[in-house]
Amino acid sequence: MDSIIRARDIQREFGDIRVLEGLDLDVRPGEFLAIVGRSGAGKSTLLAILGTHDLDHGGRLEISGRDTALLSPPELAALRREYLGFVFQDFHLLPELTALENVILPAVFSGRDLGTARTQAAEVLSRLSIRADETPTTLLSRGERQRVAMARGLANGPSVLMADEPSASLDAESEQTLFNLLDDLRREQGFALIAVIHSRAVLERADRVLELRDGILHEVD
Ligand SMILES: Nc1ncnc2c1ncn2[C@@H]1O[C@H](COP(=O)(O)OP(=O)(O)O)[C@@H](O)[C@H]1O
Ligand SMILES: [Mg+2]
Repeated sequence: MDSIIRARDIQREFGDIRVLEGLDLDVRPGEFLAIVGRSGAGKSTLLAILGTHDLDHGGRLEISGRDTALLSPPELAALRREYLGFVFQDFHLLPELTALENVILPAVFSGRDLGTARTQAAEVLSRLSIRADETPTTLLSRGERQRVAMARGLANGPSVLMADEPSASLDAESEQTLFNLLDDLRREQGFALIAVIHSRAVLERADRVLELRDGILHEVD
């Protein structure tokens, strides 16, 4: 099957610092791809580029066969909305809002039908055992907040979910719970998962592990 993400010769520098030095990557539909690498290796930089949040790179990035360099900002936003979901390390939840409101927030800004968005959000939250009207979000545990963030990432039914160290702040048990859920959801919904991971226990679940080193990706056995 064709790659959902195809990256060729991706380069990124910040001033004199060259972080990515001609990196290639193919993401296959449905796979769990783990990315490892020392701190400062460029993992977050890579995810920002793959997620089309950082457009300031060399090389070619295709998402679902479309060359992102040829798209206007609204076309790019539409592509992101159709294919990509994100879970951020520090959740990026708004504490004043309920779990459901946090999950449908991207839909509010993207002009989607809110009734549909609300229904889908409620389904994903219930799948993750979070009460939709749970409020304020600050009362939730870290593991629960991470699940709300994940529900938001999955709310639009993405082809690829990108997660930058999603379990960094979780204890080992909450981490396993999170990835058990992700495995189940991936089997049900078929999205690919690209995650920056440190924990050895989680790496064992991945279909492929790639190490970012010297600005490119290396296969890890
Ligand atoms: N916006 C930026 N401006 C300048 N340097 C940056 C910026 N973002 C990242 N860097 C640098 O790029 C390198 C890679 O950073 P990052 O992608 O965050 O690494 P990782 O996620 O692997 O820890 C680091 O040296 C970091 O200081
Ligand atoms: Mg990082």
